[in-house]
Amino acid sequence: SQNWILIVTAQTPTNIAVIKYWGKRDETLILPVNDSISVTLDPNHLCTTTTVAVSPSFEKDRMWLNGKEISLSGDRFQSCLREIRSRASDVEDEEKGICIRKQDWDKFHVHIASYNNFPTAAGLASSAAGLACLVFALAKLMNVKEDLGQLSAIARQGSGSACRSLYGGFVKWVMGNDASGSDSIAVQLANETHWDDLVIIIAVVSSRQKETSSTTGMRESVETSPLLHHRAKEVVPKRILQMQEAIQNRDFPSFARLTCTDSNQFHAVCLDTRPPIFYMNDTSHRQVLIINCIEKWNRSEGTPQVAYTFDAGPNAVLIARNRNVATLLLQRLLFYFPPHPDTELNSYVIGDKSILQ
Ligand code: PMV
Repeated sequence: SQNWILIVTAQTPTNIAVIKYWGKRDETLILPVNDSISVTLDPNHLCTTTTVAVSPSFEKDRMWLNGKEISLSGDRFQSCLREIRSRASDVEDEEKGICIRKQDWDKFHVHIASYNNFPTAAGLASSAAGLACLVFALAKLMNVKEDLGQLSAIARQGSGSACRSLYGGFVKWVMGNDASGSDSIAVQLANETHWDDLVIIIAVVSSRQKETSSTTGMRESVETSPLLHHRAKEVVPKRILQMQEAIQNRDFPSFARLTCTDSNQFHAVCLDTRPPIFYMNDTSHRQVLIINCIEKWNRSEGTPQVAYTFDAGPNAVLIARNRNVATLLLQRLLFYFPPHPDTELNSYVIGDKSILQ
């Protein structure tokens, strides 16, 4: 019969890089110039939920994001769809009378509906959660047998940072050496229970879309910033090892120092780019005040209490060493970001991997 429909729903949290990915050595395959490390957030508040469906009645692949249809014709969506379809296996459901042979998946079209419960493209890595969730859900729908590492290499081709969102806890994206990208995958460094004292507070201060997309920004940095090349060769490799050790030992002072320094260097690379990129533009004054406040606080306590990191947007991500510090931090943040319709202060814990709903 032509009436059946097969549906899978998955949920994927976003991730926040503490050692940043900035710069591609291959733009098509999305291969980075350095390794990066991130923290996956808990999926309760900051995640993408994606439902994928297949039915013989679907005439073409279609996708809706937050209820609005979007084009799937972009190369990145196409790469993900092609890579997943090529790994599909047989799917049978006797009750519903469904039987799709692996070689026949090409003949079926999918419908995809994706929801973010946070602002899209405002530097909150919405593409990370979105593409990871899409790949994960499609892989389940099409009975793809690959492990999460191999799926991460597919998600990577949708959006670089997406590869890190398939796992929970602390995740490293290994840049790899291979020209095919097969070894440019995400690996889990520690799961979500390893260091669950940490509290992550995100100040969403503007839901405006960022002015320079990360793709354009990275390209311009790779082409014009000498600091980017120095960073990738001389700085990040050592920092990755130190960060891994800090995470392993739950060493907050080292973790905070590395996180803040790396965020500042990422923004220095942006400033070193021609023309310069200012990701903290709208609210830069307040961002600098926050950075100063946290630097001073950390110095006055004698040991770091809070780490800060800023991505390609104006929102501040603060990581408190425990719940008591998080409460104090929230009080201080309210001073910089008094209640306003555009401002949201939310706290999160370290989250789990992609899940089927
Ligand atoms: O994956 P993209 O293209 O959204 O790039 C993400 C870049 C940063 O968020 C700034 C850093 C990172 O490692 O996530």
